[in-house]
Amino acid sequence: MIKTQSEGWGTRVGLVLAMAGNAVGLGNFLRFPVQAIQNGGGAFIIPYIICFLLMGLPLLMIEWTIGRYGGEKGNHSAPFMMDRMGKKRIWKYIGVFGIFSNIGIAAYYCFIESWTLAYIFHSAIGSFTGMTQNEVVAMFSSYVSLDEATLIPFEALIFFLICLTINVYILSRGLSGGIEKVAKIAVPLLILFGIFLAIKAVTLTAGSEGANFDGILGLNFLWTPTFDTISNPKVWLNAAGQVFFTLSVGMGSIQCYASYVKKKDDIALNSMSAGWMNEFVEVVIGAAIIIPLAVGYFGIDGVKQLAELGGLSIGFKTLPFLFNQWGTFLSTISGIFWFGLLFFAGITSSLAMGMPVMSFLKDEFSWSRKKSAWTFGAIVLALGLPTVFFYNFGVFDEYDYWTGTFSLFLFAMLETILFAWVFKAENGWKEFNHGADFKIPRVYKFIIKYITPVLLIIVFVASTIKPVNNDWEGAFNNLINGKGWSLDNSSVIKQALNSGLREQLENTTDPALRNELEKKILYTDGAKILLLITFFGIAYLVRVASNKRKKERRNET
Ligand code: ALA
Repeated sequence: MIKTQSEGWGTRVGLVLAMAGNAVGLGNFLRFPVQAIQNGGGAFIIPYIICFLLMGLPLLMIEWTIGRYGGEKGNHSAPFMMDRMGKKRIWKYIGVFGIFSNIGIAAYYCFIESWTLAYIFHSAIGSFTGMTQNEVVAMFSSYVSLDEATLIPFEALIFFLICLTINVYILSRGLSGGIEKVAKIAVPLLILFGIFLAIKAVTLTAGSEGANFDGILGLNFLWTPTFDTISNPKVWLNAAGQVFFTLSVGMGSIQCYASYVKKKDDIALNSMSAGWMNEFVEVVIGAAIIIPLAVGYFGIDGVKQLAELGGLSIGFKTLPFLFNQWGTFLSTISGIFWFGLLFFAGITSSLAMGMPVMSFLKDEFSWSRKKSAWTFGAIVLALGLPTVFFYNFGVFDEYDYWTGTFSLFLFAMLETILFAWVFKAENGWKEFNHGADFKIPRVYKFIIKYITPVLLIIVFVASTIKPVNNDWEGAFNNLINGKGWSLDNSSVIKQALNSGLREQLENTTDPALRNELEKKILYTDGAKILLLITFFGIAYLVRVASNKRKKERRNET
């Protein structure tokens, strides 16, 4: 048994709120609405619910169990939790993903989180008052662009530093003294702010407050199930990706939080409470803010266009303008509530990304909480600065792709294979239900053993070999007719080769565009190298820690 510094959850409510806070994040309020719109509204909901039931929930059960089982022997980081379950050396190195993803995601996630701080500030001082839609968009563009004279994005940089410092400070206070205290305030408050804005959005009526349509039309768009795209793998991949991101599964942070629960704690009840709370915040509150508001002003077609252009930044580029239509007082309050709720949602998630890194350093190298927290901050700063400086050159999206999508799929698939087939689903199920009064239907044992791993393998393989234009039917026809398989530029292989940008470069002669594309290729390739260095750096530290453990064991005997 290794030496650990004392750390633990104070109360069950605190634990559930911290876990819910880990899950509830920018994904619920910004990513979900955009995904839902881009994938056809009602057509997205059915694949989303099925992915949640057959992959999301089982992964929650698996990760809570891996966490508690690892924590019993003082292991709080994924490499050594997986080592305990799998015995073979390879699992320890697969566990590296459980630290790596957190760092990679935190690097760009803290940047968006810092936008919310800046936008709270601007809402409070009335910067948006009287701005047109184009001016609001222009303000965002200038916020994330380099200053022409100094090439430093001053404001973005300052808010990023403030945001990171707040994260590090809370992390350095520990689980019960920092994270749990923040979750107890932030989660209820963000739900309250969210309910206020959701009511305002769905009661918006055409002709009042400058609205052109009823807000409720947005909800109808989302909640009227349609089956036209149900056979399209693209919608399924996006639905799976959203479920992973929003629940924070495949990351390593749930395992880490769960490794601090006690053996007798009811993890069946706790995991379901946190997971369903996240879904409530996502599909009930998250869905009822941006979509109805934007539909109220721009109509459904307008919103579809915005989602194509806007990505995660849609909430920053449109909502301040829409709030403007409600008069000074209400627009100020709404701005503070909206960006405030995003900040609370974001910080309770980014704190969860810090914990696996800190736990690893504390467990393996006996570092103090403070030193571990500041080290996490320093790594995120180093990896995050390229996103702040080169946001417009694709670094942000590159991080998001490799750490926020690819790694999550890969790690979730491998840990499920470990749990269901190596550790064995029967043992895992027993472990999960230990101390549980709350009974989960036994069918989930079967799902975990057969359905979830197979689905995860399909999702992973499908995203790796995604055919050109995501046209699966055409791709299979071509294959049958001996014409081979053409990969899409967003498939893992082409993404790794940066094929999309290279193709664009080959097809243009415009010097300005060529210059921009060359820069983008340089910076996104650089981002990949940084991520690889991070991954192998962690793997090296895991090896050092493992040797250290072996030596300590030898000395004990
Ligand atoms: N689960 C977190 C979110 O939804 C990462 O933003």
